[in-house]
Amino acid sequence: MTDAVLPSHPAIPTTTPMGEAVRTRPQPRAKIIAITSGKGGVGKTFVSANLAAALTRHGLKVLVLDADLGLANLDVVLNLFPKITLHDVFTGKAALEDAVLAGPGGFSVLLAGSGMVEYSHLTPEIRAKFLQVVEAMAPRFDVILLDTGAGISDVVLFSVSMADEVMIVATPEPTSLTDAYAAIKVLATQQKRQHMRLIINQAVRPGDGRAITGQLQQVLNRFVTTEDGQPVRLLHMGDIPADPAVRDSVMRRQLLLQATPGCAAALSVAQLANKIKSMLTT
Ligand SMILES: Nc1ncnc2c1ncn2[C@@H]1O[C@H](COP(=O)(O)OP(=O)(O)O)[C@@H](O)[C@H]1O
Ligand SMILES: [Mg+2]
Repeated sequence: MTDAVLPSHPAIPTTTPMGEAVRTRPQPRAKIIAITSGKGGVGKTFVSANLAAALTRHGLKVLVLDADLGLANLDVVLNLFPKITLHDVFTGKAALEDAVLAGPGGFSVLLAGSGMVEYSHLTPEIRAKFLQVVEAMAPRFDVILLDTGAGISDVVLFSVSMADEVMIVATPEPTSLTDAYAAIKVLATQQKRQHMRLIINQAVRPGDGRAITGQLQQVLNRFVTTEDGQPVRLLHMGDIPADPAVRDSVMRRQLLLQATPGCAAALSVAQLANKIKSMLTT
């Protein structure tokens, strides 16, 4: 990516007093999609990496950004050993250009450092730098996937605030669904999100995701409205079955789509990518 030139950007990124990202929308620019969850360990990083590979196969220019700033592990899943991370960019030790790496599936990657307590609370300076990074990347890609941390911490909410679309990953377990509901509620009220998309990972039965989406929607209808009194709509994006091939691919530090492209989970990720592709063009 070192040959790419950062285009001058007409929009001046800024943040609101609440610290949420505010930006204008010059064209062309990437669709920014946050992959987030209430509970940890539900498959966000697996989904982000493999969706990126699947979208790349559709001919799209894709960047995956490890937005789990303090507890990054996208590098592990992608078997990358970064010398330069977002931390170096934020601290002025490296240029953004040099932090953009080539991922195994032909997509680009921006990695974060791990074990850094400074990102457990975001300062206004880090927020501004984080937003600048995303803004600088947006004109150069068709899709930017933000692989966020779990929950409703500062850094997660800020990452999600930069996204055009929010995809919540949840498993059918009651704990995951309770936490997904909590995250959806916070995003609806704080960020005035009128719709969010749900991916049910580690699904056990066909139809799991549709049923879960219906149940969550019912609870949302009763208890959550956005600030302007609108109901929040949950859109079911698809299910990914529980599949031992996923764990195997993570253990081997390979993309599932490359290791076992014909397995049930890989086929579901490919379907998900088809749906996102059509979402981008409508
Ligand atoms: N569909 C699936 N089937 C089986 N195991 C899965 C599936 N999705 C995720 N896993 C397992 O869950 C682990 C955690 O996934 P990860 O993507 O790191 O979660 P998160 O990013 O949400 O913390 C993976 O390493 C994998 O072993
Ligand atoms: Mg993760």
